[in-house]
Amino acid sequence: MQNERPVEDLTKAEAGEELARLAEVLSQADAAYHQADAPILSDAEYDALKRRNRALEDRFPDLKRVDSPSDRVGAAPAEGFGKIRHEKRMLSLGNAFADEDVQEFDLRIRRYLNLSADAPLAYTAEPKIDGLSLSLRYEQGKLVYAATRGDGETGEDVTANARTIAQIPHNLTGAPEVLEVRGEVYMTKADFEALNAQGSRVFANPRNAAAGSLRQIDPEVTRARPLSFFAYAWGVLSEPLAETQFDSIKRLETLGFTINPLTRLCSGPADMLEHYRQIESQRPDLGYDIDGVVYKVNDLALQERLGFRATTPRWAIAHKFPAETAWTRLEAIDIQVGRTGALSPVARLAPINVGGVLVSNATLHNEDYIAGRDSKGEPIREGRDIRIGDWVQVYRAGDVIPKVADVDLSRRPEDAEPYHFPQTCPECGSAAVREPGDSTHRCTGGLICPAQAVEKLKHFVSRDALDIDGLGAKQIEMFFTDDQLPIREPADIFTLKARDAGNLTKLKNRDGFGERSAAKLFDAIDERRRIPLARLLFGLGIRHLGEVAAADLARHFGSWEALIGAVDQAAPAAARQLAADEAEHEERARAADAGRRAEVKKARDAIWEAPGLPEGAKAAWDDLVGIEGVGAVLAVSLVTTLTQERERASINRLIAQLTDILPPEARATESPVAGKTLVFTGTLTRMTRAEAKARAEALGAKVAGSVSAKTDLLIAGEAAGSKAEKAAALGVEVIDEDAWIALIGG
Ligand code: IVH
Repeated sequence: MQNERPVEDLTKAEAGEELARLAEVLSQADAAYHQADAPILSDAEYDALKRRNRALEDRFPDLKRVDSPSDRVGAAPAEGFGKIRHEKRMLSLGNAFADEDVQEFDLRIRRYLNLSADAPLAYTAEPKIDGLSLSLRYEQGKLVYAATRGDGETGEDVTANARTIAQIPHNLTGAPEVLEVRGEVYMTKADFEALNAQGSRVFANPRNAAAGSLRQIDPEVTRARPLSFFAYAWGVLSEPLAETQFDSIKRLETLGFTINPLTRLCSGPADMLEHYRQIESQRPDLGYDIDGVVYKVNDLALQERLGFRATTPRWAIAHKFPAETAWTRLEAIDIQVGRTGALSPVARLAPINVGGVLVSNATLHNEDYIAGRDSKGEPIREGRDIRIGDWVQVYRAGDVIPKVADVDLSRRPEDAEPYHFPQTCPECGSAAVREPGDSTHRCTGGLICPAQAVEKLKHFVSRDALDIDGLGAKQIEMFFTDDQLPIREPADIFTLKARDAGNLTKLKNRDGFGERSAAKLFDAIDERRRIPLARLLFGLGIRHLGEVAAADLARHFGSWEALIGAVDQAAPAAARQLAADEAEHEERARAADAGRRAEVKKARDAIWEAPGLPEGAKAAWDDLVGIEGVGAVLAVSLVTTLTQERERASINRLIAQLTDILPPEARATESPVAGKTLVFTGTLTRMTRAEAKARAEALGAKVAGSVSAKTDLLIAGEAAGSKAEKAAALGVEVIDEDAWIALIGG
């Protein structure tokens, strides 16, 4: 932040100007946050500006503006749009940064499909447009709706606005009966500059301008904003457009859509990289912003086989252009405490434009990074450390958090001191401990640490977890410190309405709320009393437990009761795993040479073999770590968190508020392997292990890594070894690869 003069020192005229400036900055920040998902201010900066605005208004009430930021809650202008559920999800893309990543992408696909290195495999390559994606549904050739991407599953209905865009046809001839066309809405640089010159509303970049213009409640406003559209993909189709990606795009062009003229068919990585350089060299003259090149497998039958990971297709990747950098002054280093207690150093910078985005914060990773060494103690930046007051180089690649990359020692102020990493949590004062082998300091305060508690809550309500409309990070911050209606743990969210009913100061009478918005919030909360198990698990914010693992656990256990039962049963074994890890660490510290491997194993075995492990604990533990995607590290974290007394009590209070914890949707209950637990072993020759696993899961099966009494079927490829023997001993059915292919229908 610039040096701001205290509110008390301003004259009335200055206060008026300052209020105008704040209204502008805060409205830009709102637009960036809500419309472009690209915040230009940190939460703390935003709040500080809001407080300053309010303090000025309190001092000069008659200067309060009609567009006062105090009267706006962080409510997205998205309110007012209907929701549309995408029949086919709108996905994002994985990223490649270096040439090698592109070669690796090709190799990965070949491995998955079991294609030799010289088998022909073509790709399309086209610019990655920096706008926002839109799905257009046509039925009998008529545009029936247009929806934004939203969270990929549900988007906003922006049909009326999309109809005002000249490059979006309203009627098609010769199209499939049902056709969903997907592409990017964007604003050209020239249109962006002309719009900003009118001064009606200043946007930071064309992408923000496009997002802000498309999501207007009044379509006439959108009509006045020059938006463009490139088609590059499709969703639901009643019949295929063509057999290849390239021909499908050409077909869209024939139907009347604009496709990007730099779309090419490439024979392999060398060709793709050549086209990438070509596009890169034309980038400054294109007239619109692009941030990379997208490669897609051309053959649609192969795309189908490759399928998807959690949120990205295996058959496409975005090759990003190199990061943008800029130099600025490091004004301060703040420490943020995350939901798992990790202390993250954040650089507060003199605001600087880095490739079109105003950056005032960047990550400094951890203590070692600031000191100029990596996790193994090797120098980075040739050992140059980073000090407050230094000139630093800021680096921003795509949508990732900017980072401080380098420091200019020639401009170091004389009094700059080496940075000392705090040994206590700045939020709760508990010790901040850095475990051996870990680069991160962690606050040991657990639930007593307000920062951890508030971050956990923000995670709990976030989009991929509970996703409660109208209850986002900002509202959580507000409720967390509220003394009338506090939300301190997840269960408090669900008691909010009942507590509000018993309160004198009702939520509806508060600043930023009204009758309607309070009622809406209570409804949105009630809607989440029925929640899929995977979302609930992910929402608990357990360390190492990501969305994919949460889905794996939900699929494996099917219910909260089954999961928690297994966790309790496995708890004594998890304690042994932890003790064994510690013993191993000590043993390794004693003698670093590899010759002590036998010693390490002995130390571990001694712990596991000691008497006193309750019946069933080891089996429950083995079952847990046997789940594909759940390793020992996650299993320990899961079990220790869920069996920690205060944590468990808090979760139980939450569960008591829920009406239904929904099992994962049974995928393909019709299939012969639905609901069964399969294990693959040996070498498969007709499809790769990865494809086999994906196919099995798509047919509703669980795939485990090891054979146990719970295994239903073992698929033994060539040279199957001990797993086949174990299966035979346990009486598990064993089939070969041909039988497997026949079982899943070829
Ligand atoms: S293909 C399943 N092609 O990039 C793959 N996406 O990071 C669907 N984008 O949400 C996307 N230009 O908004 C594709 N030529 C292009 C693109 C493109 C821009 C955007 C799109 C998507 C995001 C993924």
